[in-house]
Amino acid sequence: MSEIKRIGVMTAGGDCPGLNAVIRAVTKTAIQKYGLEVVGIKHGYRGLFLGGDEFVNLTLDKVSGIISKGGTILYSSNKDNLFDYTYTDEKGVEHKNVDMSDVGVENLKKAGIDAMVIIGGDGTLTSGRDFARKGVKVIGVPKTIDNDLAATETTFGFDTAVATATESIDRLRTTAESHSRVIVVEVMGRYAGFIGIASAIAGGCDACLIPEVPYDINKVADAIKANRARGKNFGLVVVAEGAKPKDGEVVVSKVVEDSPDPIRLGGIGTVVADQLEKLVGLECRATILGHVQRGGTTTANDRILSTRYGTYAVDLLMEGKFGNMVALKGAELGYESLENVIGANKAVEEDGYWLKTARNIGICMGD
Ligand code: F6P
Repeated sequence: MSEIKRIGVMTAGGDCPGLNAVIRAVTKTAIQKYGLEVVGIKHGYRGLFLGGDEFVNLTLDKVSGIISKGGTILYSSNKDNLFDYTYTDEKGVEHKNVDMSDVGVENLKKAGIDAMVIIGGDGTLTSGRDFARKGVKVIGVPKTIDNDLAATETTFGFDTAVATATESIDRLRTTAESHSRVIVVEVMGRYAGFIGIASAIAGGCDACLIPEVPYDINKVADAIKANRARGKNFGLVVVAEGAKPKDGEVVVSKVVEDSPDPIRLGGIGTVVADQLEKLVGLECRATILGHVQRGGTTTANDRILSTRYGTYAVDLLMEGKFGNMVALKGAELGYESLENVIGANKAVEEDGYWLKTARNIGICMGD
């Protein structure tokens, strides 16, 4: 008999389509396959620190009807690292950068939680690894729309973000065509260009700028002008937020000081549109998609991937394979040690299928 009777589940970091589908799959598998109890911990690691009402029992009823919904029914926080925690106590005294992880471990014990499924990105899983080192039985589930984790073929959320970006491009094409404009669509992705290149291919765009291929704006202008010469009087350009010119830097929209990863990218779309307008003789406008890419209805593919991840995470816990993260290896699920996955990011490769496909169909990559 397994010593695991009650498991906890938490989401931390930015929201991502598919989080609810993972929570649902974890809960259903734990209850129906293994007869476990499931506790949802609200607001990520902050809830783990606070305990009490932040811990809620998850039942089949509570996870019913959430598979398609974006966001997370458990809410999230992307600032609370209990190993380096800043908080204000009941007496109003501020404590800065203290290790409060023992409080988290104690709260798990008090709630009778024997093991945890932690759903998050790099920062969240770093703490997951650190809790695993302290003896907490942890399985991680990788989440990010950016699809930039090396250990897994695909992260859930990516498919929905690409679908949203593509639908937006389809809508923007109407205005671009009617008004003979070039529309520059800025997408997310942080330092990886997966959302950018995938939506540029799916959206039938003329040019695509991604972090992995530093660009020359003149090359983009030449591509638009060549199209004009053959009678196409509009253009669609996708710019990933992390794109940068050959001799320049990324555009930072905001610095969130108390965040583990303080740099927020954004604004390159407007820069590119302004530069292009001077070169191509057409009005150029920028649309920044921003968090639209993280919200709304989760695609069928993401619901399926999230469900596979969630159910497999519980299987791994019950097999005693603690300290690992679920991962997609080809078409099959596998796992990787949390010790190895942290900080191991991937990028769009020069000789990979994304860039080959884009270049083969004549999408200008700005180089
Ligand atoms: O990692 C997911 C992501 O949406 C990135 O694509 C983006 O750069 C970042 O998070 C935005 O973070 P925030 O929601 O904190 O502004």
